[in-house]
Amino acid sequence: MLKKIYFTELDSTNEQLEKLAIEGATEGTVLITKLQTKGKGQGSNKWVSEPGGLYFSILLRPKKLLPLLSIMAGIVTVETFREVTELEFGIKWPNDIIFNNQKIAGILVESKFIGVTPEYSIVGCGLNINQNKFPEMDEYSATSLKILTEKDFDLDFVLDNFLKRFESYYCLYNSGNTTYIINKFRTYSYLNEQVVKIKLFADKITEGKIIGINDDGALLLLKSDQNIETLYSGPII
Ligand code: BTN
Repeated sequence: MLKKIYFTELDSTNEQLEKLAIEGATEGTVLITKLQTKGKGQGSNKWVSEPGGLYFSILLRPKKLLPLLSIMAGIVTVETFREVTELEFGIKWPNDIIFNNQKIAGILVESKFIGVTPEYSIVGCGLNINQNKFPEMDEYSATSLKILTEKDFDLDFVLDNFLKRFESYYCLYNSGNTTYIINKFRTYSYLNEQVVKIKLFADKITEGKIIGINDDGALLLLKSDQNIETLYSGPII
């Protein structure tokens, strides 16, 4: 059961939800804000969070943490966007939502473990909905539902559509019935069979052809020496 808490402005919904998680907030707490002053993106990136977008974080306390959890949030975004626009969005592993090579949503999952057991997981979602433009540096790489369709969307309607789907998928995830989720990812995956470079850590980069994901949601890359490399985190560059 989800418990939504609304704000007008926050530094970052992920940051604030982490504080609540440490204080013992229950699974299903969702923080939503109209704008973020310090929105966090993947790596050390910032997430531009001006009014018009949907910025929210969901607190989970999963028994087992798999890359599939963040993939799942991407699937939910694609399905929500497809339903409200009838456009065919895709997912760039693990969870960038793409339309015509432009990014329209990003997901940042941050987790804390006690030993190998996850204590909590925060699924932070930034969905570009009613923004008319993005800062110049992002002009050609970011888009929004409004830019694509020339329509305004009801943010609460999109959020509720997302959260309802997310709850159903999370039930599947917890029941261990992950085949359905993996197959959905395969349907929406954007870079099947393409040769890509992936940033590992520090300056290390690996390269290979995407041949799919395994049952955990990890990316499978076919290397030039015909070995298969299994990757648990990105990003694809
Ligand atoms: C990415 O770089 O692709 C991930 C972006 C994630 C942004 C969302 S907005 C809500 C939540 N709070 C944050 O500070 N970041 C995430």
